[in-house]
Amino acid sequence: MKKVLVATDKPFAKVAVDGIRQIVEKAGYELILLEKYTEQSDFVKAIENVDAVIIRSDIADRAVIEAGKNLKIIVRAGAGYDNIDLAAASERKVVAMNTPGQNSNAVAELALGMMVYMARSCFNGSSGTELRGKTLGIHAYGNVGKYVAAIARGFGMEIYAFDPFVPAITMEKDGVTPVATVEELYSKCQYISLHIPANSQTKKSIGFDLLSKMPKGATLVNTARKEVIDEDGLLKIFGERPDFKYLSDIEPDCKAEFSENYTGRYFFTPKKMGAQTSEANVNAGLAAARQIVDFLENGVTTYQVNK
Ligand code: 3PG
Repeated sequence: MKKVLVATDKPFAKVAVDGIRQIVEKAGYELILLEKYTEQSDFVKAIENVDAVIIRSDIADRAVIEAGKNLKIIVRAGAGYDNIDLAAASERKVVAMNTPGQNSNAVAELALGMMVYMARSCFNGSSGTELRGKTLGIHAYGNVGKYVAAIARGFGMEIYAFDPFVPAITMEKDGVTPVATVEELYSKCQYISLHIPANSQTKKSIGFDLLSKMPKGATLVNTARKEVIDEDGLLKIFGERPDFKYLSDIEPDCKAEFSENYTGRYFFTPKKMGAQTSEANVNAGLAAARQIVDFLENGVTTYQVNK
């Protein structure tokens, strides 16, 4: 009997686990659950005899992949697959996939939710500002960026986007104004919402030069990855510009400097929360389970991210 492991340090909602179980058992496979594990060695041990694994932000490094002696497929239930060692997977002929788009609405709602929270002075009773009429720059117009644009349109924001991989017409159809350069986006927009992946080109790419172009009353919103921020540059802009604010779905490494010096100008989720809704868990978790069955039964490799 084939075995499917769900290894989630941050567990899915029960309704999603039930749905995954149904798909896996209907295919005649066994489901094994490893939730809220504290040691990486627990993951290494649990993967030993399984054919497939579903993960979230869990680290599927070389040690994990090599421990999976029967492993054929690993699916990241979510968008970003920077937590999978793709080279190690390819060497072992393990197919790696993600489930693009499945948790995008949840992430977009969090981005706008954090913006409202900060614009209203963290709901501390003092007078705040509104989003209506403010400029919003969407940095990378993929699945999440599109949802952010749709919600921000409802707020009456003026929306711009930069994405060299997306045709201008796609943005224009959504009521979004495309800009030609990343510098132009940051110069125009009071709010920047980041949706770039974390890879060798993008890590530490958002730094002082870019952020200093933002107009007065700037807010950077990061529901992507903390690794894309050059934190030295971010701290420099915070030191120079008292109007600058930062919202991040996960604490930056330099969170101590923020709590010491910049109270009221930032908000960080303690754990990555973007995809933490039962709807997103169901969408991404069930998609992952279906992709595993489709691959193991029919060799379907849609959404494969390694070569
Ligand atoms: C993603 O890349 O899909 C999001 O960052 C969600 O991550 P999570 O599944 O760990 O919440």
